[in-house]
Amino acid sequence: MSQLPKDFIDELLVRIDIVEVIDQRVPLKKAGSLLKARCPFHDERTPSFTVYPTQQSYYCFGCSASGNAITFLREFGHLSFREAVEELAAGAGLDIPKNGSNPKIDRDIPGLLEIALEANRWFKDQLRNHSEAAKAVDYLKNRDITGETAAYFEIGYAPDGRSNIAHKMGTTEKRRNLLLKAGLIAKSERGNYYDRFRSRIIFPIHDNRHRLIGFGGRILGQGTPKYLNSPETAIFHKSSELYNLHRANSAIAKEGWSLVVEGYTDVISLVQNGFKNVVATLGTATTPTHIQRLFRLSPHIIFCYDGDRAGRDAAWKALAVTLSEMEEGRQASFLFLPDGEDPDSLVRSYGSEELHAKIRMATPLPDFLFGHLLQQTDRSRMDGRARIADLAQPLISKMPGGSLRELMETRLLELSGVRSRPESLIQKQTNKESQNLDQRLSPLATAISLLVQNPFLAREADLPNMEITETSESNPGWQLLTELHRISRDSPNLNTAALLARFQGMEHHRSLERLAIRELFIQDREIITYYLETMATIEQQALSSTITRLLREAGESGLSGDEKTQLAKLYKRREVLRSTRKNH
Ligand code: UTP
Ligand code: MN
Repeated sequence: MSQLPKDFIDELLVRIDIVEVIDQRVPLKKAGSLLKARCPFHDERTPSFTVYPTQQSYYCFGCSASGNAITFLREFGHLSFREAVEELAAGAGLDIPKNGSNPKIDRDIPGLLEIALEANRWFKDQLRNHSEAAKAVDYLKNRDITGETAAYFEIGYAPDGRSNIAHKMGTTEKRRNLLLKAGLIAKSERGNYYDRFRSRIIFPIHDNRHRLIGFGGRILGQGTPKYLNSPETAIFHKSSELYNLHRANSAIAKEGWSLVVEGYTDVISLVQNGFKNVVATLGTATTPTHIQRLFRLSPHIIFCYDGDRAGRDAAWKALAVTLSEMEEGRQASFLFLPDGEDPDSLVRSYGSEELHAKIRMATPLPDFLFGHLLQQTDRSRMDGRARIADLAQPLISKMPGGSLRELMETRLLELSGVRSRPESLIQKQTNKESQNLDQRLSPLATAISLLVQNPFLAREADLPNMEITETSESNPGWQLLTELHRISRDSPNLNTAALLARFQGMEHHRSLERLAIRELFIQDREIITYYLETMATIEQQALSSTITRLLREAGESGLSGDEKTQLAKLYKRREVLRSTRKNH
């Protein structure tokens, strides 16, 4: 991640007022020229937390907490430095500069926040006063959502009608534009404005700063789409926000774990039943940002999914993004509910103790990973064990190094007899035994070995074009090969030693060194042919694994137009490759 320019931080601290920033979160009382409050960072009866407007800083006489607006936000909201800066910047209408560019201002952000609040006041009012509000109230009652809970989550109601909001709130052109930009209304082809949310229960969504940034709207009863959410806007970013995080963050930090569920109503129902550390994604897949935010608060994430096929698939996708965040000391677990149950229905039928019991039994990430793979493969067969290794290796190689990764590699070795391969590039091979286990190099390692020993090969052959396959970006071996190829081609005078020096101090230096001295048993005059063959194999494998994945997806959920085109290209390329290889 790029560093934020110092100028920008200076500008930000000049633009914002610490008094406002703190007062929004901890109401301040005037005491002379200073402001005071009970300290949010320790328990106290008499206010010793003091804000100094002229210095734009704070200090607590009780616990010595001190700092500026950024420090405050970090501590108070459990945010990273960057997140705190982003939140302050968004509030001040400053855009975070992208590498060297000047701060850009989206002047609409304060207006968008304001109009979202206004809309929610209206939605809440409709739930109380609209002539058909009884429908909505009954719906909530049927779901066992109490009046108190509805108020706490600021639940509202968007009544039927094409253009309630458009008419009532879109009174000037400026306001109409804000409503459009906030996704609350849309413009028809004929130029009429109509509401996005109609005849729906409205769940407002807040960011970590407690700002209302978007809405989820559930249809009353049956119908599609069941949920309609605000679109991406200047203030609403689905792939980084989590429902209820602003309220759950302290509880997550305190309890040491977070619970991730799929739906708004799951969160609401669980909170009503005494859970505080629960959040939901906003109808999108789990992203690295979600995981990073949660791991920053506590070292254990528990994902809760329906036991059905869709739930398993969602869990598997969450696992894939979680792996790269599994720093030392972190844990993730997966809880699968019985088919047909979700967290909401489970606590309503069986009570929160039942869910707590299930949470205690949640499947640890490594068990889910291996269990899932073992289900798809036959371990009694050699090719089945090979398949386990082939499926597990790319996953495990996403993990940062550490004890957990080592244990998982050992487990894979036990299960398949195959040593984790991407790791074989970077692993210290301490004894003969482990060397024997890894006599055969993967095609990628072979190519790297050939190239580092014979840099001239870079001018003999291009790397295969991996554009239509999907194995290239995240594969460290492929990245290494690409880098090596580029350097050898750009600097034709480099010999093996000079080439190795270019990688000094880099992650893969040691593995390169080993591959540079590896005996490959190839005669000189065969080297080029062998290199070309290896390239073809690498491409062939990438093509096949991409085809396999697309076919599986086709069976499960169908393919998009783009994916079908991709599949056709993959087949065609594989055919071309096959026929040229036969002719050699
Ligand atoms: P679910 O379909 O599991 O709904 O969607 P739920 O939360 O159990 O809903 P109820 O209990 O029937 O009301 C989970 C989440 O997926 C998103 C929403 O965020 C929802 O909370 N979703 C679902 C959509 O965005 N659109 C949809 O049409 C359905
Ligand atoms: Mn539900």
